[in-house]
Amino acid sequence: MPPGKEPMKYWLQCEHCHVRYKSIKILYHCDECNGLLEVRHDLKALAKCVSTQLFDERWRATHSPHRSGVWRYHELILPVKLSQIVTRPEGNTNLYAAGRDEKSGLRKIGEYVGVSKFYLKHEGENPTGSFKDRGMTVGITQAVVLGAKAVACASTGNTSASLASYAAQAGLPCFVFLPEGKISTSKLAQAVAHGAITVQLKTDFDGAMKIVQYVCDELDIYLLNSINPFRLEGQKSIALELLQQLNWKVPDWIVLPAGNLGNTSAIGKALLEARQLGLIKRLPRIASIQAQGANPFYRSFQTSFEKRFKVQAETIASAIRIGDPVSFARARQVILETNGVVESVTDKEILEAKAVIDNSGIGCEPASAATVAGTRKLMKKRIIKPSETVAGILTGHLLKDPEVAMMVYTRTTKAIKSTGVNPAKLGRTLKKFLHL
Ligand code: F0G
Repeated sequence: MPPGKEPMKYWLQCEHCHVRYKSIKILYHCDECNGLLEVRHDLKALAKCVSTQLFDERWRATHSPHRSGVWRYHELILPVKLSQIVTRPEGNTNLYAAGRDEKSGLRKIGEYVGVSKFYLKHEGENPTGSFKDRGMTVGITQAVVLGAKAVACASTGNTSASLASYAAQAGLPCFVFLPEGKISTSKLAQAVAHGAITVQLKTDFDGAMKIVQYVCDELDIYLLNSINPFRLEGQKSIALELLQQLNWKVPDWIVLPAGNLGNTSAIGKALLEARQLGLIKRLPRIASIQAQGANPFYRSFQTSFEKRFKVQAETIASAIRIGDPVSFARARQVILETNGVVESVTDKEILEAKAVIDNSGIGCEPASAATVAGTRKLMKKRIIKPSETVAGILTGHLLKDPEVAMMVYTRTTKAIKSTGVNPAKLGRTLKKFLHL
């Protein structure tokens, strides 16, 4: 083959009109029809060089980048040179058995949702405490490959914390656009501590998203929201790692919270590609769960996706307080192709589920609890059957939102107020707690 004529390993492709672009161009939308772009891999060529055995061997890697739960699947994610990768490393999050029949305290969660074979993949165990790190290691690596001069995102908090961390590691200036007063202090603290320039705007997430797109276009800054197709490539590894942890046995359902719909899109893409590559034989059904006050995707699903909605979003789960999701079209396709469903849960249901998860010892941030609340609802509706295997994704760490945790638990938890240091008196009080 003449030089320069080698087939492309991966490229950008419009999801709508399928026009192709080289991946070395900074692009998020199609020049022809303005559709969103996705990364496409040469799956035929890949099928010859990847296998479950290869990934199982790499699972034992002790060094970066293959030690990362994202870059273990390097060829399917972004086949750049290993030396170009910016990783902490991320991934390798626990998959907890939390079914009704388990022996551990986690069975409380299975009893609550009514599922015997129930697994929870805790993405809050990533370096900055959320699943966003899986996308960000790839987004920042691509920023370095492209020679970006600065990076930016709009965020409900977790994306900004993650971007700030990875940008600092890569030595890139970072701007985060935040809805003022609407993100948790912990997430803001992460972004600030990692040296991001925070731009607090008197608007909601959807407003901040529009502004950051404009600013990035004007100032030639690399945008790292999930509109960026490389972010989604990294987030695909949630599904790949989950399958690997289940010994490549496909669960009947994957349930996850949904806001801007990047994760629904990424997990769906991973599954479809895994099936095409022969890593799995069948697809799980995907259930995307939205908060009732921020449920445009659910409303659209109710119309069989005939109508698209925008809402003024309001929910206690600030991470998914999004009324006009950017990845709507991709996520719709995923729900259709996996015979999936979209469900909506109230803040009360989210907080109740969060209490069960927190009390079981693993804990999560409010948005993540939508997974458990949604599974319970789908069980009650008999959409999920009692005999089916369900894998839920917990997207963020409990400490991401201490304000909500304290609000809930100072009201409900028994606390012993210290009034002095009299050991005998304290001993008598503790005895009462233990019913001795
Ligand atoms: N769970 C958590 C903890 C999140 O932070 C987010 C999104 C989601 C779920 C929803 O995922 O947007 O891919 O559907 N947080 C973004 C942010 C929007 O800015 O941190 P999605």
